[in-house]
Amino acid sequence: MAVERTLSIIKPDAVAKNVIGQIYTRFENAGLKVVAAKLKQLSRAEAEGFYAVHKARPFFNDLVNFMISGPVMIQVLEGENAMQTNRDLMGATDPKKAEKGTIRADFADSIDANAVHGSDSLENAAIEIAYFFAGTEVHAA
Ligand code: PPS
Repeated sequence: MAVERTLSIIKPDAVAKNVIGQIYTRFENAGLKVVAAKLKQLSRAEAEGFYAVHKARPFFNDLVNFMISGPVMIQVLEGENAMQTNRDLMGATDPKKAEKGTIRADFADSIDANAVHGSDSLENAAIEIAYFFAGTEVHAA
C-alpha cells in the first residue's frame, strides 16, 4: 500500500473538550504519524475559503460560524493508506450514524459539531495541506 498524506482538523468542539491528546493517540495507534501541526484560530475568510466547495449548501454559514467559534488543531497525517485510514477513524459525518469506537461516535455531539475533518480524496488532501501549510512546515516522517 502507498504511503500517503492527508489533512486532519480537530474542530473547535473537540479542542474545547480537551481531547486533542486522545484523538492523537488514535492516529498513532492506527500507524499515522503527525508530520505537521498547528493550533490556529481561523478567520472567517480562511474558513470560507477552506469550505468554498460547500458554498451553495444550506449549512454553509453554520459550518463557517462553527469553525471560527474557537481554535482548531490542524495536522498533516502520514502513513500507509492515510486518507482512508483517517476517514475510517473519524466515522460517519453524523455522529448518530457513526460506528461505535470512531472519533465522531465517541467525541462528537451533532452533525454541526462533529469533532474532526479529514480530506476525502488524495487530490483534495494535497489542496487542503497546501491551504494551511508551507512546504517547509511539513516534515519527513
Ligand atoms: S463529508 O464529511 O464531506 O463527506 O460530508 P458532507 O455531507 O459532504 O458535509 C460537508 C461538510 O459540511 C459539514 N456538514 C454540516 N455542517 C453543519 N451543519 C450541517 N447540517 C452539516 N452537514 C454537513 C460536514 O461535517 C462536512 O465538514 P467536514 O469539515 O468536511 O467534516
